[in-house]
Amino acid sequence: MRVRIVGAGYVGLCTAASLAYLGHEVTCVDVDPEKIAGLVRGELPIYEPHLAELLAVAPIPVRFAVPDDANAASAGPPELVFIAVGTPPGADGSPDLKQVAAAVRTITQSLGDGLTVVVNKSTVPVGSGNWVGSLIDDAQPPGARTATVVVASNPEFLREGSALMDSLYPDRIVVGSDDARAIEALVRLYQPLIEQDFAPPPFLPRPARTGRVPLVTTDLASAELIKYASNAFLALKISFINQIAELSERVGADIESVSRALGLDARIGSAFLQAGLGWGGSCFGKDTAALVATAHEYGLSMSIVEAAREVNYHQRARIVERLLAELKIMKGRTIGLLGLAFKPQTDDLRDAPSVDIARRLLARGAKVRVHDPVALPRARRELADVAFELCDTVDSVFRGADAVVLVTEWPEYAQLDWARCAKAMRTPLLLDGRNALPRDALTAAGLRYFAVGR
Ligand code: UGA
Repeated sequence: MRVRIVGAGYVGLCTAASLAYLGHEVTCVDVDPEKIAGLVRGELPIYEPHLAELLAVAPIPVRFAVPDDANAASAGPPELVFIAVGTPPGADGSPDLKQVAAAVRTITQSLGDGLTVVVNKSTVPVGSGNWVGSLIDDAQPPGARTATVVVASNPEFLREGSALMDSLYPDRIVVGSDDARAIEALVRLYQPLIEQDFAPPPFLPRPARTGRVPLVTTDLASAELIKYASNAFLALKISFINQIAELSERVGADIESVSRALGLDARIGSAFLQAGLGWGGSCFGKDTAALVATAHEYGLSMSIVEAAREVNYHQRARIVERLLAELKIMKGRTIGLLGLAFKPQTDDLRDAPSVDIARRLLARGAKVRVHDPVALPRARRELADVAFELCDTVDSVFRGADAVVLVTEWPEYAQLDWARCAKAMRTPLLLDGRNALPRDALTAAGLRYFAVGR
């Protein structure tokens, strides 16, 4: 099918690459000419494992264009247009929909005569599908209307760092629309994913036991709510385990055993019960805030989600308090942070715990040194206002440090030469903010080791 994707960010690029791999004809447009020029040269604006490889093996290469050139770049007007632009949080917590409105404007300028299905993939508040429909109607006065446009919601459930595995082998596909033609088009588009009858790319092998993918077809509002409810529930699980971890520390329990046993109950499930510094990234913080804001609009309180947010952001303050309890005086100390990205396998710094923790330490007069295997170039561009020292080597984080905190559990940090690290530090104190380091090896190497909830 002929598909246009508006927005060349995480969601747009991963969706473009996966749909093109399945044999669809994809054009990806973005208002940023520099980004498009880079993509045309084969330079990706984000770090996502296997994205470049997947784009390279698509049977029909994805075409990249700015909106004005989109029709010329493709073989004809699209049957489906995906809106995959950013919806950053506005001042009151509700998502800012300016980019969605701009995307709709460009879509209405390039409609064909046939049926076009406009699909919201960006995470937008409940009711946005109707709003997009009305914007499209406004852009085509009844007398001048030639195109038939129907709106659908098709939320994404992809995780940064494993976005392509999640795109090709999803747990479920959700398609919502109040128009049967939109549902029919999306089901046709996703048929290879639903049936799982495509040959997997060698670098993204199909996980064992992947069967036919469940498809949920529903109305617009339900599809929109499914996205928020899913992210809020995952966020809730993380905050729940983090609160239990705090209690674990007080009563002398080990959160790793508690979490494992909890997760073995099939009704609970083991995923998203890893205690640590809590969630960051562009989704959970923003989406939980938006869900709370939507509930308020309807006179409801989403108190359980509000509590999860509070617990989450408390983890960042808590680690600084623990450092303070150990070091007593923060002024003049040097603290090292391992990891800057909000999670491993990405260079995304949005709502990253590292930045929050660094700011708190700097405000208390400490010097902060940070390393990350992939996010340093992005940090140099986006975080010039934070007075931390960005280190190209892990060694420089440990050298002369009074404490080192593991913030992002990149696998390479679990395999350091601990004796050498301990020797390089002024005080051999290590706080494992993700419970990801080999405790025995660290203590054997002479480090004082603290973890979360144990
Ligand atoms: C999340 C959801 O998992 C996706 O399903 C969803 O599509 C996406 O948001 C989105 O709305 O776009 P993402 O934010 O990329 O994906 O990453 P996750 O793997 O969910 O991790 C989120 C945060 O939770 C990370 O900071 C991670 O370190 C933290 N986390 C995760 C924990 O602290 N404990 C856990 O047990 C799991």
